[in-house]
Order: sequence, then C-alpha cells, then structure tokens
Amino acid sequence: MKRLLVILVGISLYGKPYHETYRVNRHVKEKLDAHSGLLAKKLKQVHQGTQKHGVWQFDWLQGYYIKYGLARIEGMEKMQKVIDRCNLSSITVADKRVYRIKGTDIKGTDRKPSNRNCAIVIKRVKAENNLAPVTLDEVQQLCTIMHETGYISMTGPLAKKGPNYIRTKDGSFCLIDTESRYDHTNLLKGFIRLLQSHDYTRDLSEEALKHILWEVEQLLKEKPEEIRYTIRALKICLKEQSGVPTWDYKSYIKNFCKQLKENQ
Ligand SMILES: Nc1ncnc2c1ncn2[C@@H]1O[C@H](COP(=O)(O)OP(=O)(O)OP(=O)(O)O)[C@@H](O)[C@H]1O
Ligand SMILES: [Mg+2]
Repeated sequence: MKRLLVILVGISLYGKPYHETYRVNRHVKEKLDAHSGLLAKKLKQVHQGTQKHGVWQFDWLQGYYIKYGLARIEGMEKMQKVIDRCNLSSITVADKRVYRIKGTDIKGTDRKPSNRNCAIVIKRVKAENNLAPVTLDEVQQLCTIMHETGYISMTGPLAKKGPNYIRTKDGSFCLIDTESRYDHTNLLKGFIRLLQSHDYTRDLSEEALKHILWEVEQLLKEKPEEIRYTIRALKICLKEQSGVPTWDYKSYIKNFCKQLKENQ
C-alpha cells in the first residue's frame, strides 16, 4: 500500500503542469488577470511569427519581465540540475514563474498548457556594475555549465542583444536567458561568443581570458577545420576592445592565433 502511494504521488508530481509547479503569486496574478487579453494577443503574435521578439515590460507590472516560451522553464530546470550536481556556487538561475492566461484552463479549445496560453514571468534581476573582473574559478563554473548542458549563448555585457547573464550584488552570475540554443556539437561557437561579449579589461581577469582561450584550443583539436573561422573571430574581438589594457592580451592573442595556424 505504501509503495502504491509513493508511485501515485510520483506520477502526480511528474505530471504537474508548469503553471502549477511555478505559480505566480496572488498579487502578480491579479495584475496579469486584468491584462490577460493583451497578453494572449502578444503570445499569439509571437506564436504565429508576426512578432519576433517575445520579451516585454509593462507599466502595470513594474519590476518584472514577461516572456514567451515554455522552453525557458525547461532550460531553467536543466541549468538548476547542473548547478546542484556540480556545486556551481557562483551561478544562479532567475526565478521564472508561469502565468496561465485567465480562463484558458476551463473553457475553449486551447485547454492544454502551451506557449499560446502560458506566459513566463520573471522579476527584474538587479545588476551590480562595480564588481572585480571574472576570476578563474568563476569562468570555470561558466564553462562547466556550458559543457554539461551544451548551452552556447553565455553572453556577457558587450552582447548587442543584451547579456544572457546578469552579475548581482553578491557577485554571482544569474542566468536570465535559458531558452537559447543548447548544442553540444557547437560549443566552439559558445566559447567564441563568450570572448566576443566581454571587455578584456573590465570584465575578465587575465586568468579567465586565458582559460576561455584554452577551451577554444581544446575544441579545435577535434575540429581543425574551424581554425580559420576562429582566428578571424579573435581578430574582430581584439578590434572591438576599447578599455585600457592591464596586461598585454593583444600579444597573447596574436601569439595564440600564430600557434593555431602553425598547428593547422
Ligand atoms: N529578469 C531580467 N532581469 C533583468 N534584465 C532582464 C531580465 N530578463 C531580460 N532582461 C533584459 O532583456 C534582454 C533580453 O532578454 P532575454 O535574453 O531573456 O531574451 P531573449 O529571448 O534572448 O531575447 P533576445 O532575442 O533579445 O536575446 C536581456 O539581455 C536583458 O538585458
Ligand atoms: Mg538573450
């Protein structure tokens, strides 16, 4: 009997829809309910492809972001599992909640939870801008989560479309975009993006930058055909640096590229 109970509880927890597991609080729900028509319209536009960007902020829900895509919740769970299993003490995932559009669970043809009737709700993560550059241990944690999950969009402050992590007051890296691509076969691109979206004076310590380059080097051993693309990307990275260097990363990267060419 006890065993049966455990199995039944297990099944019901497993089958619980996201909007119940990650419920928004009552105060937020009231505001969302009052604008459920607008939200349904916005979700539909993204779903049908008439609007590309599914990230919104509204005056009537200050301090929050509302986003399209239940994949963000799958991504959040995936990241959290790795953080726990690998003890990644410097990484957190933004607390994402799911709002079910008012009325869709009781009537209509659209009853099954979906991207059209569920919106993702996230508190704004406050960025701390005066932190020391990323250390070796911290960058290793970022690289671990990339290797473990295949996440290739770990972009930082220089990212043109906005960063996918935010550094908070206690120095931790809060992952805010868990929907982007997961692709173990394309990790090289992920590390290049990491290099492209950071300032080498302000954001990365010398050890951190050298570590990312080391990751790149390891991956290129398996994919020498990507060496030319990598060298081109690194040259662009150097051109885009505007800070006053605290160490000679220019010579280091030029030498790194030279070695890559020689090993080709
Ligand atoms: N919870 C949050 N706290 C603070 N800023 C956020 C939060 N969520 C999103 N942002 C801001 O909005 C930007 C876009 O959000 P996000 O990365 O989740 O969307 P996206 O799906 O990647 O969209 P895009 O196609 O623009 O990258 C972020 O780079 C960040 O500047
Ligand atoms: Mg993003």
